[in-house]
Amino acid sequence: MKELRTRVVIVGAGPAGLLLGHLLQRSGVDSIVLERRSREYVEQRVRAGVIEFGIANLIEDAGAGERLRREGLVHHGVEFRFERNAYRVPLSELTDGKTITVYGQQEVVKDLIALRLGAGAPLLFDHEVTTLEGLTRDEATVEAESVEGTIRISCEYVAGCDGSFGVANRSLPTGVLRRYERTYPFSWLGILAQSPPASEELIYCRHENGFALYSMRSPTLSRLYLGVRPSDTLDAWSDDRIWDELNARLTTEAAPEIHQGPIVERSITAMRSTVVTPMRHGRLFLAGDAAHIVPPTGAKGMNLALADVRVLAEALLAQLQRHDDSLMSTYSATCLERVWRAEEFSNYMTQMLHPSDEDDFENGVQLARLRQAVHSREASSVLARNYVDLNSL
Ligand code: FAD
Ligand code: DHB
Repeated sequence: MKELRTRVVIVGAGPAGLLLGHLLQRSGVDSIVLERRSREYVEQRVRAGVIEFGIANLIEDAGAGERLRREGLVHHGVEFRFERNAYRVPLSELTDGKTITVYGQQEVVKDLIALRLGAGAPLLFDHEVTTLEGLTRDEATVEAESVEGTIRISCEYVAGCDGSFGVANRSLPTGVLRRYERTYPFSWLGILAQSPPASEELIYCRHENGFALYSMRSPTLSRLYLGVRPSDTLDAWSDDRIWDELNARLTTEAAPEIHQGPIVERSITAMRSTVVTPMRHGRLFLAGDAAHIVPPTGAKGMNLALADVRVLAEALLAQLQRHDDSLMSTYSATCLERVWRAEEFSNYMTQMLHPSDEDDFENGVQLARLRQAVHSREASSVLARNYVDLNSL
């Protein structure tokens, strides 16, 4: 068995693990990032697209924002469609000029991987972490498997940035761990299509057939989502059915068409909310999806993950460089206050935009909420602040 030693082992090369590794490396602290998938896989995985104002600044301040600033699409507003009408919420006007940036998660991941490998820092793909030990002792050990065999790494701290199905959150003892959960009776079918976006801004749509979302990645790539039944599989959704349904839900008299094109990627994601507490156990710190999941309607998951590691990097640096453990001891509480705000906002957006098949009382309440969100300046200001910069509030 190969034996290694480092100061921090980071499990997972998603946005959270990669940004944490970069922030530590920039301050001269050694870490090893372990990722169970291949580099090609993580660089191609299509997911989030909306980056908050303060999170775009965080990426830039970390020295990882060069391409994001060049290629990211800066948006000043967002549209809501319901009852066949369209309403714009002027995000920038309601937030002292702040904006969101539309830039694919896999582009953030590519940029961070290039920086880490360029700096010669260790990032081991195709290494699956199987065991975390010594979390409450003097030293932690992490074991990972690859085709070359097992490696065992001794370290001072472990960052569990391995998503909701990873190994880290399962390492919290049952007596310590508390899991809060909600599932929703719908999933999202997401596609990436080679077609020019029909709108310059994102469109969130509530239609009696279900939810729809119009987003984009570039002047030639559209990203669209449909709310579907949790039992639906991709086989049930032919290209024609997807476009018919997007047309039925998204078009209005004033905005009659969406641009179709070859579908180059598709997937179905279940919607759920989860919070795991505490986000620390001894030498293990959870960050990102490993600690919490939000339904994607609020566009918060990646932003939350990056905001967690901003706090974690500062806490680890204070301890490792100045023997100051005060930020480590408040890490979980500091993050959870923000995490619950994101859970609340994501739940609010989800409940407001996904009609119920069975409950017309619920549908009436949803429409009242939507009308308030677009017609009341107070309500649209709260929505705008949360949408644009929740993780910096
Ligand atoms: P992940 O990106 O999941 O990374 C975890 C990594 O750990 C993975 O690479 C995984 O392979 C690796 N791993 C797991 N187990 C192990 C192991 N045992 N050993 C080694 N490695 C391991 N968020 C937004 O902010 N805005 C959006 O617009 C948005 N839209 C979304 C749309 C969809 C359809 C989906 C599915 C998600 C969306 N999200 C959005 C959420 C966002 O994608 C996630 O919150 C984000 O990926 C979390 O980052 P992370 O680094 O915590 O976890
Ligand atoms: C995108 C994803 C989201 O979950 C969302 O709320 C808005 C946009 C996107 O992939 O572009």
